[in-house]
Amino acid sequence: PTVREYDFRVYKAQLSPDGVPRTVYTVNGQFPGPIIQANVGDQIIINITNQLGEPTSIHSHGIVQKGTNWYDGVPGITQCPIPNGGNFIYNYTVDVPGTYWYHSHYIAQYVDGVHGPLIVQDPADPHLSLYDYEYVVTFQEWYHNTTEQLLLIKMGANYTGLSPIPASVVISGYGQYNCSAAQGLSCNSSVTPPTYVVQSGKRYRFRIINTSADNHFHFSIDNHTLLLIEADGINVKPVMVQKLPISIAQRYSVIVNASQPVGNYFIRASATTNCLLLNNATIDYDRRNIINWNATGILHYEGANNSIPTSKEWPDTGAVTCDDVPDANLVPFVANTPPQNVSQDFTLNLTFGPADPNNPGGLGIFFVNNHSFNPNFTSPSIMQLSSGVSAQSLPADQNVYTYDNATGGVQLTLINSNGGTHPFHLHGHSFYIVGRGPNGTSPDPASYNLVNPPYRDTATVSSRGWMTIRYYADNPGIWLLHCHIEWHVEMGMVIQLVERYSDFSKLTIPSSVNNLCQSSSSSTSSTT
Ligand code: C2O
Ligand code: CU
Repeated sequence: PTVREYDFRVYKAQLSPDGVPRTVYTVNGQFPGPIIQANVGDQIIINITNQLGEPTSIHSHGIVQKGTNWYDGVPGITQCPIPNGGNFIYNYTVDVPGTYWYHSHYIAQYVDGVHGPLIVQDPADPHLSLYDYEYVVTFQEWYHNTTEQLLLIKMGANYTGLSPIPASVVISGYGQYNCSAAQGLSCNSSVTPPTYVVQSGKRYRFRIINTSADNHFHFSIDNHTLLLIEADGINVKPVMVQKLPISIAQRYSVIVNASQPVGNYFIRASATTNCLLLNNATIDYDRRNIINWNATGILHYEGANNSIPTSKEWPDTGAVTCDDVPDANLVPFVANTPPQNVSQDFTLNLTFGPADPNNPGGLGIFFVNNHSFNPNFTSPSIMQLSSGVSAQSLPADQNVYTYDNATGGVQLTLINSNGGTHPFHLHGHSFYIVGRGPNGTSPDPASYNLVNPPYRDTATVSSRGWMTIRYYADNPGIWLLHCHIEWHVEMGMVIQLVERYSDFSKLTIPSSVNNLCQSSSSSTSSTT
């Protein structure tokens, strides 16, 4: 195994991703941040220098951190935030190949730009013979305010639970704001779209990452079908699609055959606008129609001129939903066996509002089993548990679930009684989706798929629907389970799972992690 070392300085810079300048939170001055590349089995070292002017942290999304819970990057759970001016080194091994990403897990900071792709290559990938080259594409909605401002403006005491409305969407860091709506903003109406060059006859793997706060997308390339081969690090049986639905924080790989006439074709990342719950009482409702919800890049064949494509988007073949790729199209390539029995079984009721009376003026408006989560940045769970506090005695707003029993599987059933769709992410594991259903259905254990079900780390619970997932309790640590809609995280749709604490307590927390809490508590006390 090779050691892959990255020096990341996070700092603010003035950039204009969609033609309108704003303060972007960058990694080494870039948005999105630099790509981390490794081979399976390698050790990754990320040396963070924080010059953001506020605390930060880095979570490696989809990396299971076996034996290194404290490098999972979650302030309030696995570490104290890295203070401004501070330094911290993440150091872990990557055991599972696939398409991942790293992002700040400090409040909503990743949405301001602190994120980048993390690719773990597999020299023995069974799909290697299907492609010649690869590219990475990211996309997300884009705001002209920082998330700190958005949280203050939109989510104060009178917050309704609806999401802030973006200004535009960006693909690989570039978008085009509708400058006619700019109202005095400086606005460049000709941002150069990102161009992906292909050679006629070659095949390209596109690794696609949705880095949004709030938006489900459809990804497509005009005139080119997509051969889906990977979902969240798991190879799937190849399936041909035209438009790929992708929810927040999910990743897919698709293969594109450069088999069309030499020319230029649009690559499209389009926000699925019917997923948004817009507040028609606000001015944002009127802005909805002037927002550019589509970001385009260009698939450019070598030898073609540099003209803007005239290609047409694939038509929709059915109802446009906010759900995941159907489970039938996510069959693992190498058959997987989920736990056939479970020894820990939790039902998680997801409910919405009214605001948490125990959290006056706060954002608590989403609940899991009647509790809205609040992080405790200065005294993270890992520190509390390692100092002898029992998980059961943590406050109710810590939403703690514990299981020490490692013999069977863990089962979580999420029941969504609100109208939103919620892409749930589990830290420390991928999980088997043994069942899920839309509005009007309820969990039916007799129908669970226990033979090679989809296996991934982020999956969507339908509007008023449900989802049952299972996994093996083979990773001692404290793992977050949360909706990846960033606004819902801020509103409390988060729990923490304390897995096999009796084994976890035998692990030794590195001194650098302990020191982080000393420096952050001293910097907090000096400013208060
Ligand atoms: Cu991608 Cu808890 O995060
Ligand atoms: Cu949600």
